[in-house]
Amino acid sequence: MNAPSEPHVRIFDTTLRDGEQSPGCSMMPQQKLVMARALAELGVDVIETGFPASSQADREATALIARELRETTLCVLSRCLPADIEASMRAIEHAAKPRLHVFISTSPLHREHKLRMDKAAVLDATARMVALARSGCDDVEFSTEDGTRTEEDFLAEVIGVAIASGATTINVPDTLGYTTPGEMRALFERLIANVPGARDVVFSAHCHDDLGMAVANSLAAIEGGARQVECTINGIGERAGNCALEELVMALKVRNAWFGADTRIDTRRLVPASRLLSRLTGMAVQRNKAIVGRNAFAHESGIHQHGMLRHRGTYEIMHPEDVGWAASQIVLGRHSGRAALADRLRTLGHVLDEARLDAVFAAFKALAEKKREVFDADIEALALDADRQR
Ligand code: KIV
Ligand code: ZN
Repeated sequence: MNAPSEPHVRIFDTTLRDGEQSPGCSMMPQQKLVMARALAELGVDVIETGFPASSQADREATALIARELRETTLCVLSRCLPADIEASMRAIEHAAKPRLHVFISTSPLHREHKLRMDKAAVLDATARMVALARSGCDDVEFSTEDGTRTEEDFLAEVIGVAIASGATTINVPDTLGYTTPGEMRALFERLIANVPGARDVVFSAHCHDDLGMAVANSLAAIEGGARQVECTINGIGERAGNCALEELVMALKVRNAWFGADTRIDTRRLVPASRLLSRLTGMAVQRNKAIVGRNAFAHESGIHQHGMLRHRGTYEIMHPEDVGWAASQIVLGRHSGRAALADRLRTLGHVLDEARLDAVFAAFKALAEKKREVFDADIEALALDADRQR
């Protein structure tokens, strides 16, 4: 199942669980339903709706979403505790395609300071809780929290126990965003090659962005054989966030020949989904954010604008329309050149001879020194001025 040649990478969206755990991003159940609809339309394979044992709002949101979304797998998170798993089972009982997700910390730091459990206790809890989850659901995902900072032989042992106990997806989180892409790829390759039963389950990556490597690490995990990636819209999530869905999806699409794997996402819905999430949470997207930031397809410098006017491929590696933008933007400002100004004047209906264009360009440059962006209304005024002075 995990053969790296399998072309389809499953997108597990955790915007409504790990994403919502980031400060300032909590959503009410009705808001989660609205976002879940957008995620289903986007074509994600799995939606993680919440952590039922942790809040009433998560239980309500899960029930609302389960009632309506019948085609997408819906997943809920539990610690390796019977009460958590039972709460999750109740929350997801009406889902058409339910998944139970159980996790336990495996790293030395977490074992000693968080769980206060030794290795044997972690192995025992894994076996019992994965089996309990499996007794109520055929689709069980198991995660090794802080997996990438775990002794590799112990990590492999825990994963082997989870598979033997019935887990169908194995998720290896880089919980602290500490790993490098080379390490990630090698780790997945070794785990899939060496853990008994690994080829009968789907391996998954869950990368945080503390060092800005979440997307790179997720792509490296895919190169190492992962066939599910956990991510969030706009990359929201604990601390610096999670792997950004839109970036990962477009990397697989644009560099498909390199990765040999794609997703089932309708990429034209990426920008609308990003904007919807910003509206629901009040969390703005930075202008220079890849794919969904306002500047992602905007060009201000004269050299770039000149190139773009001749062939968009000079400064764009994907079409803005393919990710949900209406078009590329030529922004007129201090760095812009004569070609872009002439093009904008033509678009606004002003066909100028060379002498008048020179005059408008000089006036434009003087104005652009004083303000950050020169808008169409400014250009109109400059063109009318030039007309008057004829
Ligand atoms: O970052 C993490 O380790 C997690 C797990 C609970 C999957 O979010
Ligand atoms: Zn996480």
